Amino acid sequence: MVQKWFEEAKLGIFIHYGIYAVNGIAESWSFYNGRISHEDYMKQLDGFTAKNFDAAKWADLIEKSGAKYAVLTTKHHDGVALWDTQYSDLNVVQKTPAKRDLIKEYAEAITKKGIKLGMYYSLIDWSHPDYPSVYEGGKVPEDLSKVNKFSSPVDGVQDEEKWKRFLEFNNNQLKELLTNYGKVDLLWFDGDWERSAEQWNLPEFKHYLQSFNPDIIINSRLQGHGDYKTPEQGIPITRPEGPWEFCTTINSSWGYQPADNEYKSLKQIIRMFCDCITMGGNMLLDIGPMEDGTVDKRQEDILLGLGKWISTHEEAVYNTTEGIHTRYYLGGSTVSKDKKSLYLFVYDDPKECICLKGLSNKINKITVLHSGKELDHEIHGGVPWFNIPGTTWIYMTPEDAHEHVTVLKLELEGELDMYGGSGAVVTHN
Ligand code: GLC
Repeated sequence: MVQKWFEEAKLGIFIHYGIYAVNGIAESWSFYNGRISHEDYMKQLDGFTAKNFDAAKWADLIEKSGAKYAVLTTKHHDGVALWDTQYSDLNVVQKTPAKRDLIKEYAEAITKKGIKLGMYYSLIDWSHPDYPSVYEGGKVPEDLSKVNKFSSPVDGVQDEEKWKRFLEFNNNQLKELLTNYGKVDLLWFDGDWERSAEQWNLPEFKHYLQSFNPDIIINSRLQGHGDYKTPEQGIPITRPEGPWEFCTTINSSWGYQPADNEYKSLKQIIRMFCDCITMGGNMLLDIGPMEDGTVDKRQEDILLGLGKWISTHEEAVYNTTEGIHTRYYLGGSTVSKDKKSLYLFVYDDPKECICLKGLSNKINKITVLHSGKELDHEIHGGVPWFNIPGTTWIYMTPEDAHEHVTVLKLELEGELDMYGGSGAVVTHN
């Protein structure tokens, strides 16, 4: 079940940290897709030092970004655990020069700041000998030459015993994560697509996880048994049903890839964030730290810039719900919890006025949130005796605009009331 804190959080920071940062290549997929051998991929273990990893610094940056939760890759599809797991020696404590339980340090620092603790855990493990033991849904594919040896048996023979052992292994690792690091608020699964709900032993698996913390929130990647939707990289156009979170990279990579210079600008990131919250969702913004634990300056600057914008516009972000339909206002908006304030997000420089249609309430005051400047408005048209409101024109000049996204606060008489009809013929005057 989704807890209230999640819907109020608005922003989370995703962290893809792992040995793939040593060579600066794609997390796990690089060996799965044959761009590097598994052996060479694993050589990165020797270069993973985490020597400048300072969880308190990360927590500080996350707090400054305005995020209320963090989600760290405890283990990606490559199977390398960032904690001292007893169930496999493929972990950074035993196999890398880092020799530290990074999850312990992360969990402590995040919890200390009052940020909600999230853990990404890959259900699939392309390095575990028991993992490639069955096929998706138990169906042996016709063309065995196309089978990837890291995810399924190449000979067409399934081994249910091995698969059971693998599920046991996942359960054990998850038990460690859920019991050794204080209260975990959110589990972010990934990779459910390689097996069916039945093969993942759902819904029992979910009940097992909830037995450690009944309040835990679980993302959607659990073959229909998750608590909220997780669109990835492509921003939704239609509001997803129920609680949701949009996860996105800052450049084009989840992990640290120095060759990837496809950075989004701060303005674009702020805009994406506004698109999420005005449609009632959260944004989970990813950073990919370098192997030593340092966050690339360009990613750090984005987090700080976003945080600065949020802190200036705090009341339009937190404690609000999704806004009015774009038929009323051609931009984003949010509404205060008491429904007495409407926040209009202005993305472009205004020509003369901002146009708002269908508002039935009287407006008591309009201010530009970042400057406090009061704006004038006029109302034209409307048919009062049919309760059809006129069009509100708010006078705003480019000088009133914020350098990124401007927010106008409309203080209303009573609770927000929008007219949604198709108009009427004015039969008498
Ligand atoms: C995809 C990828 C993975 C990444 C994740 C983040 O599912 O498998 O590499 O961690 O998206 O959402």
